[in-house]
Amino acid sequence: MSAFTSTIKQTAGLVETALDQFLPTREGPLGRVVDAMRHGALDGGKRLRPFLVIAAADMFDCPRDRSIRAGCAVEMIHCYSLIHDDLPAMDDSDLRRGRPSVHKAFDDATAILAGDALLTQAFEILAEKQTHPDAEIRCSLAIELARASGKIGMVGGQMIDIYAEQKEFDMEGVSQLQRLKTGALIRFSAIAGGIVGGATDNEVEALAHYSEDLGLAFQIVDDLLDIYSDPETLGKPTGQDSDMDKATFVKLLGADGARDRAKELVESAQAHLDPFGEKAAPLKGAAQYVFERKT
Ligand code: IPE
Ligand code: IPE
Ligand code: MG
Ligand code: MG
Ligand code: MG
Repeated sequence: MSAFTSTIKQTAGLVETALDQFLPTREGPLGRVVDAMRHGALDGGKRLRPFLVIAAADMFDCPRDRSIRAGCAVEMIHCYSLIHDDLPAMDDSDLRRGRPSVHKAFDDATAILAGDALLTQAFEILAEKQTHPDAEIRCSLAIELARASGKIGMVGGQMIDIYAEQKEFDMEGVSQLQRLKTGALIRFSAIAGGIVGGATDNEVEALAHYSEDLGLAFQIVDDLLDIYSDPETLGKPTGQDSDMDKATFVKLLGADGARDRAKELVESAQAHLDPFGEKAAPLKGAAQYVFERKT
């Protein structure tokens, strides 16, 4: 295992414990939605977004209990987006993180509700005092997460993604789609680490530049894995993008062109971290991991 893989696994363990505590099981019908939330949020995934929050916050010596909370908030939004993305009305995927997707393990209505509840709980967590004693910082985390998740963020990107199935897209169009669909939450993750850690505006801006390049690279690799990986390795169906004629960089640039573009983006992401010196090693490692990942 590479040094970076063990580092991300270690923070994933901290995030898993915190998410488990945020989602205590309940009796009765209420318990069903909690069980579905737990199915969608626990025991799986790379936890890349919380890693970015925690690693960015670490650069500013932020107490871990704060950055883990902000990391759980973005992971909850991410898991909600995956639960809804897998629904029959969207990508109609039966497999997620090597298990039946939430609507398969439960039903469509429960999956919709579980996603809704994860979405709302994310903002509850950010607004609570334990996330940061300064209310202005809590507000700014909530505003940034709302923007990254909503109509000018992930939801907007998902809308274009669905619309793209019926339309021709150029480089500019695909970049915009991916910046919103995937990039916005990855960008939030890095800047949230800066915000919760008390970074200056310039430092937050450097984190924004890093994560904008990283988010695009991340989605290019996701699109390549959809073609070149298999469901056992990836834990989700493959071949879906070409079946549904999704707009991807791979479609526009070919596999080699897309891989070259991802590599360039990763190098550019890393260069944006140079002002932070040695402290940025974990975030630079995350960029390399995004390029080399197999899941
Ligand atoms: C998958 O995200 C969905 C996209 C935004 C491309 P991840 O590849 O981070 O999924 P998990 O969290 O590791 O399962
Ligand atoms: C979905 O993108 C991204 C979000 C859930 C916002 P994809 O549809 O490509 O994600 P996967 O491949 O199903 O994980
Ligand atoms: Mg999708
Ligand atoms: Mg999908
Ligand atoms: Mg995909």
